[in-house]
Amino acid sequence: MSVSITAVAATPERIVLPGGVVPLHYALTLTPDASKLAFTGSVQIDLDVKQATRSIQLNAADLTFTKVSLPGISETPSVTFDGEHETATLSFKSPVSAGRHRLDIEYTGKISQHAAGFFALDYDTASGKQRALFTQLENSDARRVLPCWDEPGIKASFTLTAVVPAAEMALSNTPAVKTTPLAGGLARVEFAPTPKMSSYLLFFGLGDFERISKKVDGVDVGVVVKRGDADKAKFVLDAAVQLLPWYEDYFGVKYPLAKLDLVGGPGQSQFFGAMENWGAIFSFERALILDPKISTEEDLRRVYIITAHEMAHQWFGDLVTMEWWDDLWLNEGFASWMEYKATDHFHPEWKPWLDSVSAKENAMRLDARDGSHPIVTPIYDVLQASQAFDSITYSKGQAIVRMLEAYVGEDAFRQGVRAYIKAHAYGNTVTDDLWRELDKASKESITQVAHDFTLQAGIPLVQADCNETGLRLTQARFTADGAGQPAGNWHVPVNIASVDGTPLWHGFVSADKPVDVPLKSGVVPLVNAGQGGYYRVLYDGPSFGRLAARFEDLSPTDQLGLLNDSQALGYAGYESLTDFLQLTRHASANLDPMVTRTLVDQLEELDSLYEGLPGQAAFKAYGRKTLAPVFAKVGWDGKPGEDQNITLLRSDLLGALGKFNDPDVVKEAHARFAKYLKDPASLNADLRQAVLDIVADHADAATWDQLHALAQAATSNLEKRQLYVYLGSAHDPALVQKALALSLTEEVPTTTRPAILAATSNYYPELALDFLSAHEKLFESLIEPASRNRFGPRLAASARDTAIIAKLRTYAERNIPESARSDVTKAEAAITENARIREKRLPQVDAWLKTHAG
Ligand code: BES
Ligand code: ZN
Repeated sequence: MSVSITAVAATPERIVLPGGVVPLHYALTLTPDASKLAFTGSVQIDLDVKQATRSIQLNAADLTFTKVSLPGISETPSVTFDGEHETATLSFKSPVSAGRHRLDIEYTGKISQHAAGFFALDYDTASGKQRALFTQLENSDARRVLPCWDEPGIKASFTLTAVVPAAEMALSNTPAVKTTPLAGGLARVEFAPTPKMSSYLLFFGLGDFERISKKVDGVDVGVVVKRGDADKAKFVLDAAVQLLPWYEDYFGVKYPLAKLDLVGGPGQSQFFGAMENWGAIFSFERALILDPKISTEEDLRRVYIITAHEMAHQWFGDLVTMEWWDDLWLNEGFASWMEYKATDHFHPEWKPWLDSVSAKENAMRLDARDGSHPIVTPIYDVLQASQAFDSITYSKGQAIVRMLEAYVGEDAFRQGVRAYIKAHAYGNTVTDDLWRELDKASKESITQVAHDFTLQAGIPLVQADCNETGLRLTQARFTADGAGQPAGNWHVPVNIASVDGTPLWHGFVSADKPVDVPLKSGVVPLVNAGQGGYYRVLYDGPSFGRLAARFEDLSPTDQLGLLNDSQALGYAGYESLTDFLQLTRHASANLDPMVTRTLVDQLEELDSLYEGLPGQAAFKAYGRKTLAPVFAKVGWDGKPGEDQNITLLRSDLLGALGKFNDPDVVKEAHARFAKYLKDPASLNADLRQAVLDIVADHADAATWDQLHALAQAATSNLEKRQLYVYLGSAHDPALVQKALALSLTEEVPTTTRPAILAATSNYYPELALDFLSAHEKLFESLIEPASRNRFGPRLAASARDTAIIAKLRTYAERNIPESARSDVTKAEAAITENARIREKRLPQVDAWLKTHAG
């Protein structure tokens, strides 16, 4: 038996507020002055003082208190601020008695130009520049908007009042209940009280907006966008209206607020696209509106799936919230699973579960390296909390939920979720609260399996070795370098079927309990059939060969599984990378387009690992040879009514063939671009994007200038941002320098400036990191505080040469607080892996190509 691992205990050293005084209700008034990027606030907080105390500590950051009082207590407390911990401590000479009190604070604060706290997004309109205001408070920036107990476990209700220009639309979590005109063109808008909720879910927005809405199940569902964009918001409104009743049914609880708005902001962040504020989901426009001229099929699906994700949070996250950031995955892992589940219900033709397999693959990349962490992981302070929004939390999280759902069955799983939501509504939880309800709802206990996969990092490796009587299954640990980390032990639920899908066996395999599965002779077994399990499978050579020979007979999901496992096993050296290369020879227009898309991605990834090596040209030739016949079937121009998955595949194929320097594709892309410049209607949105991808990558100075002119001339905010980012993706180093220089100027929309720098890092990570280091202060002002610690590591992570690591460390020492360096560790591990693959595995590819190219 494995050692049973118990749930992580609360870390005593967490940086949190002292208990003893808790808020019950906040009555908050905000008076923004958008032109001055400043606001005044006034808050009355109803407090429950548990024991008499001389000091009250709460969170506040970048706020200036102008008046502090407790009505009924004549003493004015002295206030000290702690900038590092973002707290304010009120000290009293005589103790404040136990019981109810009210704390009144008047203060001023700042409006920033990046998505943290209270922030502004500027955009151009036909009648000049406009400024819209929003708030973004997760993970811990409510303290920049009001003095408060800014921890997810401390819930209270809020009533917000805002004093705003009467002509603008003000929004919050709840509907406005009263609007009073004031002198000077202002109005006071009072919003209905919220239910008890965590501070990170509060929302305020203000601007020259339009709202479209529909009523569903008594809920007023709306989309709020800048004036003129209402038509582009219809798709997402319909999606929300479709999803809401389905979620009410799934969770077994009615949507608890009177309205749900989806609010769009013109801009972008390097780190998130949308935020689940209760009753007022915020999304950057790219995740919300669709412009028929430029939005692709992929954009449309992204809008749907993000909406599904943020709406799932309205229950799982907002109504029931994790107690502390250790259990962030309860929010993000669950919502990431639910986005596929809900999308699969309404759009099975998109094959969302195949996307979930790809998401699992992303997580496994990280989870196989140093710097990974368990899904449930101790979080010390709020800086660490922002680092927890990673692919372990999201994508491993969703994969484990999926695995457990498959294990207990859909119905039992839903019943457990319903019981969990009901038991903890308006409250807070830890991960074991979920396991408890699932255990009660299902025939078998899941806690052991769940603990194995959430409390230890890493990936089980199931080895499947055929012998005369059947299959011997053993379990070890899969690591990116094939060794080096401690072995792990998991109760892995394993599912075996034959190639044609007939179930053969299911049961547990763990390191201390190998299993022998008897098989009839001639049967070709497929382990992890359906790909529901979070583990890799290593077959003995002949078994792999038999499976590979039957590749076409496998389901698309299992084809993906085989491709992913064999590439990863080859990278890590468990088997030769040529096993994977053999599989790429199955590329054909007859495969499911979603499988071919993965194959295309995998070839592109290998190409980027080859960047600058002598073997790259031969690899590119192989890529062309493999994909050109598929593209010949798919063609440049879609047939009316074609499967939209082919549309996606076409874009991917064009992108890859462009990267592989396919002369016909590159030439045709330039020709179509030239035509597009004269007649923008000549390219539909999907082809427009594919063509821009290619010409931006292959741009010469003249093309780059044309793209630049397009960016300057674009009137749509969405389009402008996209075009500026293309300028950073050129391969020509001289053009990259021009793009970097541009990112220093105010010509580029503020939040897009870091995005240009990020785009240059694909080809030139070292240059990008050097540039960031040379302009630290500037980029610090352009990026949200919590995200700054991730930006530098992100630029470096795609590097293929370990030389950059020393630079990254120097950068980190200067710019990243010690508790917030986990992205640095993750980036170093990724770079080390890239370099190792180049050194050790690409020579295998070189050799293979000599016999298989031509
Ligand atoms: N809660 C997050 C947004 C967030 C992330 C806020 C990090 C603060 C820090 C939201 O629910 C989310 O996960 N958004 C995703 C989209 C989703 C479909 C994966 C995003 O914005 O990328
Ligand atoms: Zn989320």
